[in-house]
Amino acid sequence: PRSAIIVVAAGSGTRLGAEAPKAFVGIDARSVLRHALDGVFAASPAQVVVVAPDGWQGDAETELRAAAGDRADLGHVVTGGATRQQSVAAGLSALWGDVEIVLVHDAARALTPPSQIDAVAAAVTAEAGIIPALPVVDTLKKVVDGVVVGAVDRSELAAAQTPQGFPRGPLEAAYAAAGDSGIEYTDDAALFSAAGHPVRYIAGSERAFKITTPADLQRARHLLGASVA
Ligand code: C5P
Repeated sequence: PRSAIIVVAAGSGTRLGAEAPKAFVGIDARSVLRHALDGVFAASPAQVVVVAPDGWQGDAETELRAAAGDRADLGHVVTGGATRQQSVAAGLSALWGDVEIVLVHDAARALTPPSQIDAVAAAVTAEAGIIPALPVVDTLKKVVDGVVVGAVDRSELAAAQTPQGFPRGPLEAAYAAAGDSGIEYTDDAALFSAAGHPVRYIAGSERAFKITTPADLQRARHLLGASVA
């Protein structure tokens, strides 16, 4: 089945403390968004929707064209919203044609291996959503008002990554229901589960970490072997 990928890049990136929105910050000579899109086009999507911050649509278009090469006709840029959920909803309404599987991907997970993108798309069924996830390595504590009140069994936990993949019809219906409810969900899988659908997971990858803080950006630079100015 044909798959579309919505790359959400409309966040401001406040925690990164850069001048530009996070997606347009350089890792090396290439921006966060460009790296994310290079990975996307190395996978095999039938459609790519980039969700850009207002005012940055033209820049997103430039990055999309550079990453797409002769496949620029697969791509489209739309404007995001105030929350990630609104940005995904904007991406969903821009899908066209007979796509059956929709992947939602954070541009901030710029170094996600293309194999992870294809593996998620391949695992989606007509009913079930798929998330890539990693086991939790830290010992986790439940803390209330600065006091440790309990432990959390990490064997029951997994850290969710993107892209998260879903059957298109049920995802669109789940987004419509979430919009009506006014509830903000933590991620697409939570929104999809709330609509009563199963979500399964496959192994994620260390390289699919989310660039959030300056330390994350340094890690990405280190992984790319770039000189850090
Ligand atoms: O803020 P955080 O890094 O967790 O955001 C995850 C992804 O969602 C990023 O790629 C960011 O650009 C995107 N996002 C968005 N629209 C928002 C907020 C976040 O597209 N309003």
